[in-house]
Amino acid sequence: MDKLVIEGGLPLKGEVRISGSKNACLPIMSACLLTDDKCMIDNIPQLKDVLTMSEILSFLGVDMELGERAIVRKSGSYENFTAPYDIVSTMRASICVLGPLLAKKKKAKVSFPGGCVIGPRPIDLHIKGLRALGAEIKIEGGYIVARAKKLQGANIYLGGHFGSSVLATANVMMAATLARGESVIHCAACEPEIADLAKFLIKMGAKIEGYSTPIIKIKGVRSLHGARHRIMPDRIETGTYMIASCITGGSLHLKGAESSHLMAVIDVLRQANCLILKTERGLLVKRAKRDLSPVSVSTLPYPGFPTDMQAQIMSLMCVANGISVVTEKIFPERFIHISELNRMGSQIFLEGPSAVISGVAKLSGARVMASDLRASAALVLAGLVARGKTEVHRIYHLDRGYECIEEKLSKVGARIKRIKDD
Ligand code: UD1
Repeated sequence: MDKLVIEGGLPLKGEVRISGSKNACLPIMSACLLTDDKCMIDNIPQLKDVLTMSEILSFLGVDMELGERAIVRKSGSYENFTAPYDIVSTMRASICVLGPLLAKKKKAKVSFPGGCVIGPRPIDLHIKGLRALGAEIKIEGGYIVARAKKLQGANIYLGGHFGSSVLATANVMMAATLARGESVIHCAACEPEIADLAKFLIKMGAKIEGYSTPIIKIKGVRSLHGARHRIMPDRIETGTYMIASCITGGSLHLKGAESSHLMAVIDVLRQANCLILKTERGLLVKRAKRDLSPVSVSTLPYPGFPTDMQAQIMSLMCVANGISVVTEKIFPERFIHISELNRMGSQIFLEGPSAVISGVAKLSGARVMASDLRASAALVLAGLVARGKTEVHRIYHLDRGYECIEEKLSKVGARIKRIKDD
């Protein structure tokens, strides 16, 4: 297993190219199951999760060609409808093949994705939505087994205890594109990745209105055809590099960043004394003042502050001048990074769903363990500002979601290298 070794303390300066969005790419790839025609997806990020999704599609019998920045789904039908445990267990987003398989093949067997280190990850909303469209769904031998003679449009309320669900919205929207009649999803996720998926589906011939709002209307069509689409920029990668710039006291120009997807993050960073300027090519990010001010942040569904940025903002607040509070409202157990950050000298304690962070003048490098994708990013960010050497172990999590992170950081001045773990 690889590890990252970081010598902290240098301000990052220069330009970083923002990659295509992982969370948009995965459901869009699975949407290729809705047609037998050729599809082309451009601006794909080179990530482990993208490879995993292409493995699932190939396993199902779809002929795929994975290029450096593009994927071609070749024309031709596929026969398999089972997504096996071995692949699904490595990536929760595999669940988004369920809706397309059901719509196209009228049957699907997808391994139950289970929980993960950020807490329980139920799929009741996916099942509820697909049942409302007429599917019969059972859990058998660790698999979700779904069948439907036909799918029928319906009015579906998809809100859960923690608000809307991104991938349940994706699954139900994709299934509804080939249902008879009209479906309306109430309390739909408004995340930009859902809008990107809707745009791809519309290019394939789907009739969808209201995406980017909590009420999405889908008029079912008989079939969908091939299409070409360019994946949106990754807003979480963008947010992570914004914090890399601010935490090191540097100045980064994030090429291809889309500021409209990041209003909550920009607002919080401005409160923390950071300067974010929109440029012709992206975003320029640096500190406005020497000291960072503490902030109070709660994660919320989009357009609120993203849970996928919670760990990273916590790293920034570790070196702010005062006491910050970060409250997690989407995944209440998503706090494993706290103990690792405290190993680096931060002062964070957990009070229910809130982390209280007393900023310190300096973090110090340490050996730390990455527990999930965004927690790993938070540890890298802390390592960039810490005094001395930080070793981040188990970085396979990072490779799931950050394209060439050590190359991108080295190019702007970080002392970071990947080495094989002993
Ligand atoms: C997606 C993102 C993930 C992000 C999350 C929340 C992808 C590939 N992943 O995950 O990076 O952290 O959105 O923004 O896009 N819930 C239920 N029942 C369900 C489904 C979800 O109760 O059937 C709950 C979850 O436990 C959580 C909340 O709803 O509390 C939101 O989760 P959800 O939006 O579904 O997350 P994902 O779509 O899996």
